Amino acid sequence: MSLAGKHIVITGASTGIGRATADVLVEKGAKVTLIARRTELLEAACGDLGAAACFAAADVGDRAQLLAALDSAIAGHGAIDGLFLNAASGGTFTGICDYPEDSFEQVLTVNLRSPFWAVRHVLPAMIARGAGTILMTGSLASERGMAGNAGYVVAKHGLRGLAMALAAEVAGSGVRCNLVVPGFIETPMLDDVPEQGRTAMAGRTPQGRIGTPRELANVAAFLLSDDASHVTAQAWAVDGGLLGTLTL
Ligand SMILES: NC(=O)c1ccc[n+]([C@@H]2O[C@H](COP(=O)([O-])OP(=O)(O)OC[C@H]3O[C@@H](n4cnc5c(N)ncnc54)[C@H](OP(=O)(O)O)[C@@H]3O)[C@@H](O)[C@H]2O)c1
Repeated sequence: MSLAGKHIVITGASTGIGRATADVLVEKGAKVTLIARRTELLEAACGDLGAAACFAAADVGDRAQLLAALDSAIAGHGAIDGLFLNAASGGTFTGICDYPEDSFEQVLTVNLRSPFWAVRHVLPAMIARGAGTILMTGSLASERGMAGNAGYVVAKHGLRGLAMALAAEVAGSGVRCNLVVPGFIETPMLDDVPEQGRTAMAGRTPQGRIGTPRELANVAAFLLSDDASHVTAQAWAVDGGLLGTLTL
């Protein structure tokens, strides 16, 4: 993959998909800046990844912290070639009538407003350079309605809209934007899912299993690379066939 020397910033990089993507990107020669809240995990990741990695701890739902982290990334590793907007909050699991308004606001802020802020901060420089790529992490919840988690579904559908609107706006400028859509992926996000639920997730997946963070990371790295130079405005599922099939 054409990633040598590229500077890629990843939000939600302390664990799971973001952390696995950092591994792949560094293996392919990129420099990475890792953003998340847990400093100790970011420090450990940078220790593992070596000089190609640095971090900026931030709550991406706090605009000032997010923008400061992006500025720190540029100060550390130079201009941003790729931005992987991957951090997300799960929101609350309850029906719409019971959904707490503060939780609804929080999940919209972390999962949707924050990517909007980040894009507006980095895009002018990408357009000026005539190059750059932005990748966002969608979900089955960006593609379908799901019961009992409206805040997350609303935010992820909005994120899909942001990705497509952005891709359309900048397609002629050399900047690309795509959405990568995980199905069920084995990350800390699934830690609270009981065994029965995990079995059901695997059973609903045509491949019959939950995916690995590495399987998602390989596709994310490709979409962030110049090898995907003619790929923009796409929602690319990494889901073992779930969204593309009909189970009767
Ligand atoms: N795993 C799945 O099956 C699955 C399915 C569909 C979609 N996804 C999506 O995949 C993405 C990554 O999730 P994951 O599965 O890798 O889960 P994860 O391991 O729990 O990762 C979530 C990441 O987001 C960060 N984060 C959360 N809130 C944040 C905040 N306010 N500010 C900064 N960072 C924040 C977390 O770091 P800190 O806690 O250190 O801040 C962590 O690095 C998310 O967008 C999620 O919606 C995952």
